[in-house]
Amino acid sequence: MNTHPQATLQIKDKKYDFPIYNGTEGPDVIDISALYKETGHFTYDPGFLSTASCESSITYIDGDAGILRYRGYNIDELAEKCDFLSVCHLLLYGELPNEEQSEWFNRTITLHTMVHEQLQFMLRGFPRRSHPMAVMVGASASLSAFYHDSLDINDPDQRELAAFRMIAKMPTLAAMCYKYSIGQPFIYPNNELSFSENFLHMMFATPCEKYKVSPTMAQAMDKLLILHADHEQNASTSTVRLAGSSGANPFACIGAGIASLWGPAHGGANEAVILMLREIGHKSRIPEFIARAKDKDDPFRLMGFGHRVYKNYDPRAKVLRETCNQVLDELGIRDEPLLEIAMELERIALEDEYFVQRKLYPNVDFYSGIIYRAMGIPTKMFTVLFAIARTAGWVAQWKEMIEDPKQKIGRPRQLYNGATERHLGSKKKMRKSA
Ligand code: CMC
Repeated sequence: MNTHPQATLQIKDKKYDFPIYNGTEGPDVIDISALYKETGHFTYDPGFLSTASCESSITYIDGDAGILRYRGYNIDELAEKCDFLSVCHLLLYGELPNEEQSEWFNRTITLHTMVHEQLQFMLRGFPRRSHPMAVMVGASASLSAFYHDSLDINDPDQRELAAFRMIAKMPTLAAMCYKYSIGQPFIYPNNELSFSENFLHMMFATPCEKYKVSPTMAQAMDKLLILHADHEQNASTSTVRLAGSSGANPFACIGAGIASLWGPAHGGANEAVILMLREIGHKSRIPEFIARAKDKDDPFRLMGFGHRVYKNYDPRAKVLRETCNQVLDELGIRDEPLLEIAMELERIALEDEYFVQRKLYPNVDFYSGIIYRAMGIPTKMFTVLFAIARTAGWVAQWKEMIEDPKQKIGRPRQLYNGATERHLGSKKKMRKSA
């Protein structure tokens, strides 16, 4: 007997019942998987505004209250008290690691930081001026050509190995993209360093000079990685899940996720924010840009503002606003014109009727770029950093999907509005008209 409460749908004079499920938090869902079989209708929800595509126990967001939690822990607490690899462990296994688990996990990830030597020859095929995200899409998917012993998605050990490899190798690939773009030699990982220190080392060391990683920068990097690590069923994560639902290998799926992340409405916004702030150039020009953002005939939007789920201040932006001031202070950067413009832009937008009415607040990308800039990271690398962090979430979500007994290939339907059946004329007529 079905014990779930039911939602009743009436189509013309016929009624249909569908079960309602409740999670531990958040809105209940109506299971409409039998809708087509029972009624011959599809649901229609472009952009998935009201559609839950899966069950998940990894990340929870309450967009109205501005809450983001990984496995039940609030994001600000994790950012303050944890390091990135502990958060990766949390996302993958559901718990923060104890001391022994932490030692094992750090060691395991560290052992996978190097990439196959042949990969550098693939990278060298790209033009040096390529956008690093273009290279990352290819390089991450190409891992499937190198690591054949972690492609069998039905083997739990191979799935885990693929997850370790993706988390560990992404910073190495990212730093290689950067070094290649500026014509410097690749720097191998140094396994004595922490995850964030190692990334900064691979980015900024050269064979000629010792590079001492600044603790301020390493801490800020760790915080940024934690804040970006997962965000439930966002566009890139859904892309990874959809690609993986066909049984594609995890490296190829992450490549698809990186492609989705690149767009300016998603992860590409962090780069777009800095370009926008540079274009604004001076506080006096802010009203002109606010007016453009409100003008429906102008495609311009305030980058780093608004979110599909948050109708309140993005909790990640809240942490980053504070971190931004701290990092600039600690690095001795007294005068950062872009931060001044950003804070004034935020102040004006938050008082503007257009933004207030639509509940448009700064999102995670609004302040992250200013911190990256202060750390000497070039603008084109910003979205790559997002990808390094989000890899943790992608692999955790991909693993969760594969291990879900209800998992099926993702196959949405459509409302067809093309031509109805028609026929070609006779062959002779066709030739004449050509
Ligand atoms: N500037 C001006 N108007 C905006 C903006 C903005 N940044 N964002 C939304 N609006 C308006 C939009 O024009 C619409 O107005 P109306 O109701 O009059 O037509 C209303 O607000 C609702 O917008 P929407 O496009 O229907 O909302 P959405 O949920 O589909 O889009 C979004 C969410 C993030 C794509 C959008 O807010 C946006 O384009 N923001 C700028 C890009 C950005 O910062 N992206 C990073 C997202 S956070 C990082 C991540 O998770 O990737």
